[in-house]
Amino acid sequence: MGMRRKLAAGNWKMNGTLADLAQIEALKTAHPDPSVDLMLCPPATLIHAAAGLVRDHALRIGGQDCHTQVAGAHTGDISAAQLADAGAQAVILGHSERREDHEEDSETVRAKARAAHEAGLMAVICVGESLAQREALNTLDIIGGQLSASVPDTATGENLVIAYEPIWAIGTGRIPTPDQIGEVHDFIRARLERRFGAGVGRSARLLYGGSVKPDNAATVFAVSNVDGALVGGASLTADEFSPIIKALEQA
Ligand code: PGA
Repeated sequence: MGMRRKLAAGNWKMNGTLADLAQIEALKTAHPDPSVDLMLCPPATLIHAAAGLVRDHALRIGGQDCHTQVAGAHTGDISAAQLADAGAQAVILGHSERREDHEEDSETVRAKARAAHEAGLMAVICVGESLAQREALNTLDIIGGQLSASVPDTATGENLVIAYEPIWAIGTGRIPTPDQIGEVHDFIRARLERRFGAGVGRSARLLYGGSVKPDNAATVFAVSNVDGALVGGASLTADEFSPIIKALEQA
C-alpha cells in the first residue's frame, strides 16, 4: 500500500465554462504543495486552458472520454492523441453515464483504454453495479466481468487506475458502507494481481467514486485498498473539493 501515491480526481462532467477556471486557480492556491496526486477532468472545451493554468503546479488535467481511433471521420468525437495534444495526461473511460447514455460496452471501453495508453495517457477505467444487481447479490460477478473485459493488456502500474463507482451512489447522496466498499476494492485488487502479477496488480490505484463529500471522505479513505476518490459534484468548487483533498492527505 505504501508504494501507491494517493489520487484525488475530479470529474466535472458536462459542467463548467471559462469562468469556472477560477476554481482551478483557487485549488492551486489552497494546495500549493499537495502530498497526494491531484487531477481534474473538465469538459473537453476547457482542457487546453486548464492545462495551461497548471503548468506551474502538480495538478493534472484529464479528459472524460476518448475515441478508439487516433483520427478520422468521426464527427463530434475526440481522440486520445488530441486530448494529449491539448494538455491532458489522463482520461476517464467507461463511466456509467457513458455506458448508459452512449451504450458503451466493456469491449469498447477496453479499445478506448488501449488507445489512451498508446497516446501516453493514464486511463481511469470505471466499473460499478446497479442497485438491482447489488440487491440480487451479483455485485462481484458484475465487477469481475467489467474488469476483465474493460482493462486492456497495455495496462501498467502507472497508466491504469480503476474507479469503483456503484451506479446507485452516483449523484444520489447514498454511499455504500465501508465494508461494502472494502469488499469490492479487495476483490478488484486480487483480480488485478491474478491477471497482471503482483507488480502491476499492486501498483495500479483504486479509487472509490459516488457521492464522496467533505463529510464522508475520511471514512471512505480509511477503507482497505482505497487509494483515493473520483469526485463528481463536490469537485465543481474548490470550497468543496479542497476538504476532500485534505482528508486524503491525512488518510
Ligand atoms: P458524484 O459523481 O460524486 O457527483 O456522485 C461521481 C462520479 O460520477 O464520478
